[in-house]
Amino acid sequence: MTGRTATTTARPADPCCLVIFGASGDLTHRLLVPALYNLGVAGLLPDAFALIGVARSESSSEAFRADLEKSLPKFATRQIDPAIAKKVLGNVVYVQGESDDPRTYEKIGRELSRIEREQKTQGNRLFYLATPPNAFVPIGCHLGQSGLARQDNGAWRRIIIEKPFGTDLASAQALNQKLLSVLKEDQIFRIDHYLGKETVQNILVLRFGNGLFEPIWNRDHIDHVQITVAEALTIGRRGRYYDATGALRDMVPNHLFQLLSLVAMEPPARFAADAVRAGKAELLDAVQVQARDEALRNSVRAQYGDGFIENHAVEAYRQTMDVKRDSTSETYVALKLMIDNWRWAGVPFYLRTGKALRAKLTEVAIKFKQAPIAMFRDTPIDRLAENFLVLGIQPKECIGLNFNAKIPGPSIAIGGVGMMFKYEDYFDAAPSTGYETLIYDCMIGDAILYPRADGIEAGWRVVQPFIDAWREVGAQGLATYRAGSEGPAEADWLITAEGRRWRPIA
Ligand code: BG6
Repeated sequence: MTGRTATTTARPADPCCLVIFGASGDLTHRLLVPALYNLGVAGLLPDAFALIGVARSESSSEAFRADLEKSLPKFATRQIDPAIAKKVLGNVVYVQGESDDPRTYEKIGRELSRIEREQKTQGNRLFYLATPPNAFVPIGCHLGQSGLARQDNGAWRRIIIEKPFGTDLASAQALNQKLLSVLKEDQIFRIDHYLGKETVQNILVLRFGNGLFEPIWNRDHIDHVQITVAEALTIGRRGRYYDATGALRDMVPNHLFQLLSLVAMEPPARFAADAVRAGKAELLDAVQVQARDEALRNSVRAQYGDGFIENHAVEAYRQTMDVKRDSTSETYVALKLMIDNWRWAGVPFYLRTGKALRAKLTEVAIKFKQAPIAMFRDTPIDRLAENFLVLGIQPKECIGLNFNAKIPGPSIAIGGVGMMFKYEDYFDAAPSTGYETLIYDCMIGDAILYPRADGIEAGWRVVQPFIDAWREVGAQGLATYRAGSEGPAEADWLITAEGRRWRPIA
């Protein structure tokens, strides 16, 4: 069955000016401008729209616009229509300046006043911080202190901040505190690109748009949950960032915890930003904060050695450019977490993520409890197929259910079978970069897909004991795995010790 095209009743976003800090970087060219273009195609970009790019290098508005015009066809997810490209890039201005120099903000202020007069963007401003994280505080403070982000006369002023939002609990708290001293919480949009993925958003619809799942979505029926974000990519040229960060910080408190909170949160009272964000923060707040020894027992960290991925030779992590030869940064992490609330008490959540693995696979797998008695004498209960509900996020966007069925024939023989829903069979999804909904939501002031300060801090609180325990033990306990494998053997032990096993990464 095909061709059920998603319809939208969405209105175009409010007139506004988008100011991108770090505009000469990769993100602007590769994702932001193509996403704006897709919003233009969908009729969701406002007629009154302008873009100011701010960066350190010497350039001009003409050169910057030409640069964006050139890169758009390269990164766009569809054929370019010149009329729509003009709508996106018709009013582009470049401001050269350092992010900690007050004169930069004076220049931006002058350009904004002119644009607001000429282009009728109604004073609405969206500041996008596509910069390295050390610029978040200076930019936030300058925007606050200069008055550029002050909301008056009905105009809105909002800020989108890219990850990483802090590097541990203390730095995330300090960042929130600094930003909240000059801006209001409802002006701050902390972006997590996983929430731009349709299949991630669908987790809430699956759970709360159907009466079927919720009654069994608890410790009475669920044995455990596995969350996997496996990547076949290596570190490539990101050695400098990655070696200082590691897999835990890079992926867990943000992307994996977004998946965890959507899968495990309580039903919100309303499908509205505050109710959903409160529900997610509450869930993360209920995740057990582990003591040092527990954290060591319930975690595996590892680094990839050399190997082959899809027949290509891959060099070991420590041989990668900009990575220390004796680095102890992990490229793989597996954790066992427990949630202390009535719904989940006693149900383990196993999380794993890593680079240079056999395949790219992002999925949430919910394992239901086995039938309580071995009724079919010829098939012992431990040989029945496991009942997994699998939410496939990428590369296959699907939902699958595994269960047991009778194999045809005179005797009762039992075999595992599956039901599978594939998005592509039902919906013609518009090609997207994954940033469209996030940018659009910010432009209309809907923060439902953006984590709140309390949610971010709750996530770091859970991760902090692992950071501390690993720092204490150093290289000790750092496992290795072959590039192109499914990860370290130690990660298998984490789960097999409890009579369970990971689903294959394939
Ligand atoms: C980023 C991480 O946030 O997410 C990268 O910094 C990672 O290391 C990426 O590769 C994964 O995103 P996706 O959408 O490809 O799963």
